[in-house]
Amino acid sequence: MTKINDQFLEKLLENINLAKAGLNGVDYVAEYWYPPKISHKITFVVPGCISLLWVAAFPSRKLSMQFRKKDLLGIKQLEPEEIQFILETAETFKEISTRPIKKVPTLRGRTVVHLFYEPSTRTRTSFEIAAKRLSADTFNISASTSSIVKGETLLDTARNLEAMNPDVIVLRHSAAGAPHLLAKHVQASVINAGDGMHEHPTQALLDLLTIRDKRGTISGQTVAIIGDIAHSRVARSNILALTKMGARVLVAGPATMIPLHLETMGVEVFYRPEDVIGEADVIMMLRIQRERQGEMLLPSLREYSSVFGLDERKLSDAKPDVLIMHPGPINRGVEISPSVADGPYSVILDQVNNGVAIRMALLYLLIGGERDA
Ligand code: NCD
Repeated sequence: MTKINDQFLEKLLENINLAKAGLNGVDYVAEYWYPPKISHKITFVVPGCISLLWVAAFPSRKLSMQFRKKDLLGIKQLEPEEIQFILETAETFKEISTRPIKKVPTLRGRTVVHLFYEPSTRTRTSFEIAAKRLSADTFNISASTSSIVKGETLLDTARNLEAMNPDVIVLRHSAAGAPHLLAKHVQASVINAGDGMHEHPTQALLDLLTIRDKRGTISGQTVAIIGDIAHSRVARSNILALTKMGARVLVAGPATMIPLHLETMGVEVFYRPEDVIGEADVIMMLRIQRERQGEMLLPSLREYSSVFGLDERKLSDAKPDVLIMHPGPINRGVEISPSVADGPYSVILDQVNNGVAIRMALLYLLIGGERDA
C-alpha cells in the first residue's frame, strides 16, 4: 500500500488544484499525475476524503480570483490584479512542462485555431505546444497556405472557421485592431498574438513572468527598453504592462524610432543607450522592425549597431546582476552581439520557456473554467 504522508497529500492537493477544469474523477487525475501503480491505489485510499480535501484546499489557495474575460486582446484591457493572476496561474503550469509526460487533460475536446497572417516561429509554436500540453486539438492556418491568398477577408475566414466551432482563435495580423474586430464577430475566445505595431500581450506577460522569476518582483525594477520603440508592439505591450505593475521604464533609441509624446505613457525617454544601461535592472533589446518601416529611418545597419547595439563594451557599465532580454527573433550583430545574447546575463531562453506557461495559463483561464462575458 502506498504511504500517504504529508508530502504526498501536499502534492495531491496541488495537482487537484491544477486539474480543476479537467477533473473527471479522482482516478482520472491520478492517472495523469502518478504512475499507474500508485494511481489506482490513490483511488482506493482517498475516495471518501477527496471532497473534504478539495474543500480544505481551495480557500487557502492563492488562485481564488475568477478570470471573467472572453478574449485577451491587449494589456490595455487588463487590470494589475488580472496580470498578477495570470502570472500566478502560469507559475502553476510550469511544472507540467518538466514532467516526462508533458500533458494534462484540462482542455480535452476543446479546439484552438492558430490563424497567422504574418510570419512567426516561436509565438505560433509556443501557442501550439501550450494547447497540446493541455490536450486541446489544434489547427494552424497561415496566410500563405490558405484561401487568404485568394482574397478572402479576415471576417469571411473567421466566419468559416466559426462554423467549425473552435473554442479559441489565436490571431496574428499586420493590422492593428484586427483581433478586436474578430472578437466582436465570433463566439470563440480571441487571443491577440500580435497586431501590427499595436500590441503583443502574451509576449509582455511572458517577459513579466521572467522578470518576476528572476527578481521576485516587478514593482520597483528599472527596465530599459532599447531600440526601435515606434514600430514595436512588444515595446508597447511591455510599457503598458510594466508601468501597470509598478516598474520604472526607461526607453532609448534613435529619435526617428521613438514615438512623439511617449512620456504620456509614463516612461522616461532617452536617445543614447549609455544614458539607460547603468541604471537598469533589466535591459530589453528590440529588433529593428524593417518590415514595418516605410522608409529607412537610420543611415546604415552598421551605424545602428555601433551606436545602439548591445555589446560587451556597453554592457561593462551595467549593474553586476543585470538581466538581458530579447523577444526574438534576434538579429545577431545588429541590436545585440552574439556574446551578449549567449552570455551569462541573458535570460532569452527563459523567456521562450515562460512563453509556454503563459499561453497555457491564458488558454486555461479563457476556456478552462466558467465565464460570464
Ligand atoms: C516579436 C513580434 O513578432 O512582434 N517577436 C515575437 O513575437 N517573438 C518581435 C519581433 O518580431 O521583433
